[in-house]
Amino acid sequence: MNEQVSFERYSRVAVFLHWVMAALILVNLILAVVSANSEGGAHRVVLNLHKSIGFSVLLLSLARLAWRLYRPPPPMLAGKAAWERPVAGIVHTAFYFMMVLIPFLGWWVSSAAPKRHAINVLGWEAPFLPVMQGKAFAGAAMAGHKVLGFTMAALLVLHIGAALKHHFIDRDKVLSRMTFPPLQSRA
Ligand code: HEM
Ligand code: HEM
Repeated sequence: MNEQVSFERYSRVAVFLHWVMAALILVNLILAVVSANSEGGAHRVVLNLHKSIGFSVLLLSLARLAWRLYRPPPPMLAGKAAWERPVAGIVHTAFYFMMVLIPFLGWWVSSAAPKRHAINVLGWEAPFLPVMQGKAFAGAAMAGHKVLGFTMAALLVLHIGAALKHHFIDRDKVLSRMTFPPLQSRA
């Protein structure tokens, strides 16, 4: 990879983490809604999976943030409209906060529950946070977890819509520099 390419594109690690985490988060949003609308054995299986995937997202987010500090992203491409760059910057920053805060609050919910249920991540049992236990505490953390979760889902519609608009309408390199190998240039 020559210097110009690495200046213009996201690194392979950043691309890998972006897509793996995007898949995990999208699946986890679906599991959350299925869990909230199911009962009995099915509910337990889906919720355990939600907690497990969510906790993995928390660990991956920390790795991703560390990687971003070590290897800063390429500068944003000049947008067609003046508002595009700041809006993209705000949404990306919000995603980084949410990718840490949402699973952290989920972890808090599980730790504050009056009756705790283990959080299993690929056979490893995550410790509980040293927080106050009780219905009210778990409920407050749950409210934050939910509001942020659904806000993220709404922002994702905007984010995905913007990526598709750049690729199919503007025909620029915004989506291509977040894929590996780069997509065919459509310009
Ligand atoms: C990518 C990370 C996560 C996202 C995007 C996410 C999102 C959500 C959303 C949107 C809900 C509300 C569902 C609804 O009421 O329809 C929810 C519920 C819940 N989440 Fe998460 N969550 C994540 C990680 C976690 C983690 C790490 C835990 C715990 C270790 C957790 C525990 C819970 C619990 C206990 C519920 C309640 C489910 C139910 O009512 O059946 N979440 N989550
Ligand atoms: C849960 C799902 C997703 C999350 C949390 C997410 C999050 C992010 C974040 C935080 C960035 C900024 C990366 C950085 O600068 O370090 C980013 C960039 C990007 N994302 Fe996503 N993303 C998701 C799904 C998607 C999907 C489905 C698409 C395409 C359809 C997409 C396309 C892009 C593109 C093209 C960029 C680069 C933007 C640029 O160069 O300015 N993302 N995403």
